[in-house]
Order: sequence, then C-alpha cells, then structure tokens
Amino acid sequence: MAAPKPTSVVPRHVAIIMDGNGRWAAAHSLPRHAGHRAGLKSVRSAIETCAKAGVEVLTLFAFSSENWRRPRDEVSLLMSLFLEALDREINDLHKNGIKVRFIGDLTQLSTALQGRMRDAEDLTRGNARLTVLIAMAYGGRWDLTQAAAALARQCVAGTLAPDQIDEVRLGQELALKGLPDPDLFIRTGGDQRISNFLLWNLAYTELYFCDALWPDFDDAELQRALGQFASRERRFGLTSEQRARAAE
Ligand code: IPE
Ligand code: IPE
Ligand code: MG
Repeated sequence: MAAPKPTSVVPRHVAIIMDGNGRWAAAHSLPRHAGHRAGLKSVRSAIETCAKAGVEVLTLFAFSSENWRRPRDEVSLLMSLFLEALDREINDLHKNGIKVRFIGDLTQLSTALQGRMRDAEDLTRGNARLTVLIAMAYGGRWDLTQAAAALARQCVAGTLAPDQIDEVRLGQELALKGLPDPDLFIRTGGDQRISNFLLWNLAYTELYFCDALWPDFDDAELQRALGQFASRERRFGLTSEQRARAAE
C-alpha cells in the first residue's frame, strides 16, 4: 500500500529539544550518562515517526553552546556517545533514505567527531526522504552572531551594501538556510523555555511542551504532539476570517 500523502496539517519541519535524560537516569537510580544512552532509542523512534508522517525536516538539539559548561566527565561521555551512535546508526539511516546534516559551531568538536560528521553528510547527501539536522555545539545567539559577521565581511568586500541587508539576506547566512522554518517545536522534560535554540527561525513556530522525559518520548508521545499541531490555527498576524478565506 502506498504511504499516505502528507497534508498541510503535517508539519514540514519539526524541531525538538530532547530534554530530561539526566532526570530519567536519576529516577532509575542510574548515572546521568545512562540517561543519554537511553535517549538514543527515542531519537530512532522520532526519526522513524517523522519519516512515516511525511515530515521533511527534523532538527534535534543534541548539545548546546551552554552545555560545554557541564562537568568535564559528562561532556566527554556525551562526545563518546555521539561518536559511537553515529558509527552504529549511519548505515541504517542511509538505507532508510535519511539525509543527515549537522549545524552548530562544529569547530569546537574533536577532529575525530568532525570527520565522522562530514562522512555522514557525504554518505547521505543524495537522500531525499527526511532531512535530520543535528544541532551540536549550537546556540541561537551564536547562529545570529556568525550570520552578522558573514554579512559584515560581504560589506567590507564590497559585494553587499548595508541597505541591501533584509530578513531574507540574514536568513541566508543562518544554519537553517535553504530550509523551511520549524512549524512545530517540541520540548520534553517539563521545562518551558527555548534555551538558546533556533532564536530567529522559531519566530512563528507552534510551541509544544510536554512532561515526558526524553528517553520516555515514544511514538505515541510524538503522535500526540503532531495531533495537537494539526488542531491549531496558525494566523501569522492575520484574523481568523482572513485565514479561512485564504484556505477556500
Ligand atoms: C538533555 O538532557 C541532553 C543534553 C542537554 C545533552 P539533560 O542532560 O539536560 O537532562 P536533565 O534536564 O538534566 O534531566
Ligand atoms: C537544552 O537542554 C539543550 C539540549 C537539549 C541539547 P538543557 O538541559 O541544557 O537546557 P537548560 O540549561 O535546562 O535550559
Ligand atoms: Mg536538561
């Protein structure tokens, strides 16, 4: 049977803050890194559910620019886990038609990890089913700052005039360039904040917060979020009447 055609109620782009691994581990009397490891199952499940639902882009916040401040042991165990998970999962992802890309201040990562990330991007570049963006050493403020610097360099080089800078130009220098803005943002773990995720691109995103800790965030949890999204009216500044007329 052919896969159901995605409709407009399916978000094109889902962005997730995968939070609550440490609390999940504590609740199971395990060390924090066991929580990060348990979270991998939810990563696999979210990718599968999004691919089946017809989502085009899934952005996963794996490590923030602020997470470098965590205890050195935790950071180094997380980095080993990223390397291990990438090595173990990349062939399956490729076989399933997933395009993998990384965004963030990747130069901060070890050369080994940077190399594996490039290999994963090269391997999956031609895939078209679902793009999975993994945000690593990413911060929304870093993203805006590097975009500002790129535009300034173009002005200094004489290829851009300051008054040519508009929202489109700035957007073209951000990590999500060429991709639609997230339609649906999900944060697990109960906290209701953005934590320096995609500050520019979340301007009109529907926000969804849930209490489930990331390792417990399964297909049913994601379906609930997708269902909620489908029931919302996105007005983008217009009135309900204008939206209804536009949909006719
Ligand atoms: C999210 O889980 C994973 C990363 C930030 C890398 P946490 O490690 O933040 O888990 P909690 O919030 O302490 O439970
Ligand atoms: C946000 O989670 C970053 C990731 C999930 C990678 P944190 O757990 O670091 O967020 P805060 O510090 O509680 O806001
Ligand atoms: Mg957290």
